[in-house]
Amino acid sequence: MNGRSHQRCDDFTPIQQYGNTVTVIIPTYNRARMLSRAIQSVQRQTYANWMLIVVDNASSDNTSSVVEEAMRNDARIRYYRHSENIGMLPNWEFGLSKVKTSYFCLLCDDDYLLPGFLKAAMHEMDHYPAIGLCFGIAYVVDGEGKRIGQAPNEMEKGYYEAGHGAAAMLKLQHPATPAVLFRTECLTSVGWFDPRSQYVADLDMILRVALKYPIKFFDEVVACYVVHSGNSFQDVSGWFPGLLNVIKNVKMIKTSDESHKIKIFESFSQNVIFQLLHQYVHHPLASYKPGIIMNAMKCLAETRQLGPTLLLLLSHEARYLQTRISRVWSKALFWGYRIAKKIFSHAGYTVTVAAQKPVVESIDASTKVFSHLEMNSPSYDQDGLRTEHCADFMKNRHFGEAYAAGEATGSWGGAAIHWRVYIACWLAERASHLEGDLIECGVNRGGMARAIVSYLGPKLKGRRFYLLDTYQGIPASLLSERESRHSQSFRNNYTVCLHEVINTFRPFPEVVIVQGLVPNSFQKVDSDKFCFVHIDMNNARSEIAAAEYLWPKLVAGGFMLLDDYGWQINVDQRTAFDRFAQERDLTVLALPTGQGLMMKIQDSSVDR
Ligand SMILES: C[S@@+](CC[C@H](N)C(=O)[O-])C[C@H]1O[C@@H](n2cnc3c(N)ncnc32)[C@H](O)[C@@H]1O
Repeated sequence: MNGRSHQRCDDFTPIQQYGNTVTVIIPTYNRARMLSRAIQSVQRQTYANWMLIVVDNASSDNTSSVVEEAMRNDARIRYYRHSENIGMLPNWEFGLSKVKTSYFCLLCDDDYLLPGFLKAAMHEMDHYPAIGLCFGIAYVVDGEGKRIGQAPNEMEKGYYEAGHGAAAMLKLQHPATPAVLFRTECLTSVGWFDPRSQYVADLDMILRVALKYPIKFFDEVVACYVVHSGNSFQDVSGWFPGLLNVIKNVKMIKTSDESHKIKIFESFSQNVIFQLLHQYVHHPLASYKPGIIMNAMKCLAETRQLGPTLLLLLSHEARYLQTRISRVWSKALFWGYRIAKKIFSHAGYTVTVAAQKPVVESIDASTKVFSHLEMNSPSYDQDGLRTEHCADFMKNRHFGEAYAAGEATGSWGGAAIHWRVYIACWLAERASHLEGDLIECGVNRGGMARAIVSYLGPKLKGRRFYLLDTYQGIPASLLSERESRHSQSFRNNYTVCLHEVINTFRPFPEVVIVQGLVPNSFQKVDSDKFCFVHIDMNNARSEIAAAEYLWPKLVAGGFMLLDDYGWQINVDQRTAFDRFAQERDLTVLALPTGQGLMMKIQDSSVDR
């Protein structure tokens, strides 16, 4: 796992004298009363071979006296207190860095153990020496101690081979951390606690161990997990960024069978959607539409069992409900879909047909339904951009003709890219009021250039429009590894096309076609003043070389438009242009179309 900061700097070697000792870590902050209960729950264990480490995050209440009191009568307790609050997750991490025994568990100060936990868990560890962790049942209780559920509540008890347990434990509710006993050496191989996983950092650790090692779920209630108003997260937005980090970590674990990971990501998607629906549909509407909501939730609960078909069924249900509670419901679904998609792409699964498992197929199918459900019908939905905002240029006849002329060249491989073309045309038209010529680097069959020529009409008179391309595709040697991977998807778009381009622009004497490799081909460009520069070569190396050459030649008020800047996959181009801009005290304006824009405001002698 490259570059992870969640390895402990010391490789874990258990201290021999500890033998079968279990370390219980309790991180705490300002919860003296609950902490006292947690400590006592450790002291009441029927298994006596434990040590307890309390890590106090600079509490200002009587935490220290509670711990000192407990320590007076029990030499197995250690206490660390920070002089200032270092944050909850760093405090957990600090506590875990103190583990020197072969087994450990993590107990939040508001939760507590039941007396048989360590004995039962150690029995499992002895019996199954290969397992990385074991856990029992935790009762979920409210602030008054009333039982409101249990975790996990759907998983079959028993022994699970590596990977199987990781996928199974996410069904509805995963194990509660206080009910889990870890074998310490396994953490050294899968990575320790990672604070970047935020509120799900404990689940992250559990999943990584369970992917790599067998685990055991034993049939005993061993802990109580307390839900109260002070619990650290309720809102999806609070734990979603952490979840993305978990995905990253999970992905890096080497396993012989990747299907377990897919199941984990599916479960994440479903859980997030469930939470979203609960948060955005159930809460706001339950008060005045109880019947409908109960129905919806029941349907939801049922569909959750169906795994891959979940989204399809949800969308079906949503269609039925649409007339009554359309906006909130469909929004929740739409977000759910987006999030599921994000989870899969974050996990490195391209959301395209080949890489998709059934769940992603159902997501895609759902999209079609969502397009009717979500928002008032969008004014624009193409090319990675979907909006309700005014897109009246789509109705503009002059633009429509220009776009059609560009499209007819076949340059865009059938893609619909109106807003991108509109921006290029608009900028070129504005620039045509300035001094200087126009230039495009990366022309292919001339789609964008043809649209611009048509849009400008007579405004092009008296100036030149240079079109630079190899007219036979991008030489592979120019591409970075990442660009090379990405280039597979558009490879077929670029074929030898010089003659077609010459024919396309024959009626326009202002257009100068320059064949060759940028930047060398600039030698054939006999202009040193430009008002509009369009860069679209799908590789950072050529694009930056073009920008370096052309920026000083751009007149004040002129534009440099970057076609690929904002696309997620074009990291190399974006990074290179951000640096290019920074070196000139500029920033690139990121447009929602994926394009990037720079405008020259000063004379080139000042603005390098
Ligand atoms: C995305 S296409 C251009 C699309 C075009 N702007 C349109 O409207 O359809 C990229 C083009 O850049 C060209 N290209 C890439 N690197 C180049 C370089 N160093 N010199 C010349 N052309 C290059 C490729 O041949 C390809 O035709």
